[in-house]
Amino acid sequence: MPDSATPAAPPRQPRLIQLHSENGALSGAEIAAGLLAAQATIAPKYFYDALGSRLFDAITELAEYTPTRTEAAILAAHADDIAAAAGSGRTLVDLGAGNCEKAGRLFPTLQPRRYVAVDISVEHLRNALRCLQREHPQMDIVGVGQDFSQVLTLPPEVGDSPRTLFYPGSSIGNFMPDEAAAFLRRARAGSPGANLLIGVDLVKARATLEAAYDDTLGVTAAFNLNLLRHVNRLLGSDFDVRDWRHVALFNEGASRVEMHLEARRDVNVHWPGAERRFLAGERIHTENSYKYRIDAFDALLRAAGFTQTTRWSDEHGSFAVFVAAA
Ligand code: AVJ
Repeated sequence: MPDSATPAAPPRQPRLIQLHSENGALSGAEIAAGLLAAQATIAPKYFYDALGSRLFDAITELAEYTPTRTEAAILAAHADDIAAAAGSGRTLVDLGAGNCEKAGRLFPTLQPRRYVAVDISVEHLRNALRCLQREHPQMDIVGVGQDFSQVLTLPPEVGDSPRTLFYPGSSIGNFMPDEAAAFLRRARAGSPGANLLIGVDLVKARATLEAAYDDTLGVTAAFNLNLLRHVNRLLGSDFDVRDWRHVALFNEGASRVEMHLEARRDVNVHWPGAERRFLAGERIHTENSYKYRIDAFDALLRAAGFTQTTRWSDEHGSFAVFVAAA
């Protein structure tokens, strides 16, 4: 075989580390407990099976759902200022790594020395990180499979150079405010000296908020109802999607959009070891999505231990990006 020129260095590959595997028995027990509670609930993390993740991506393209687009516009418009506040040459730890795009757009200004994507399952990360690596062949990319809502101590492979934690998309809105502060406090404890780059959706008109969570095409309804199919697989239950209706409402007193599934008729749901009867009109609470005022979120960051905060917003005051430092 002819010996051609010196071969180029092999392309870099993302390193993938799975710290635990999803435990089916545990999630089944958690879901069953939620279904048997007086006010039935299912945790929003169960939205994201393969179809649910795609439906969420579709939601971000809807005319009515603006947080994702508005956040991207803020990050682009203020890229240099944000990088100056967050610092460059750090390890960028992405706590919302969905697809291959969002973090990659930060690379030119943040110039991370390493990019670490954390997700409950490393399988969710594999394709996105391969795609990102193709676009940034020299970047040191690590994927960590870990439920970061539970543990925020990252594995040694993440290294100990200074970190910027990136928590985009207003995912923080799924926590109740006191839980959100506790979560950020734990994140700080797990990454001493880390800065935080976080996106948060702001309070706006009821009609705007309710349309964002009950869009005309029914994509959010499908996203909510798909939860029942995922639960059927995890729990072995017999939910029939046709028995349920999508409900989204802005609870102004609590400053959150709530999603529920409402029984269209009396239904009995069975699963191994138990059952639950729902009367027509009874609801399963599936998600809270908290909306903040700028000052309230600033106070939350301080409650979490950050002393220095800077923020940027769009012209309508619809969404805010904060950089918080120790
Ligand atoms: C991914 C939690 C930020 O609350 O807006 C979108 C999820 N739910 N439409 C949000 C969601 C319904 C989303 N977060």
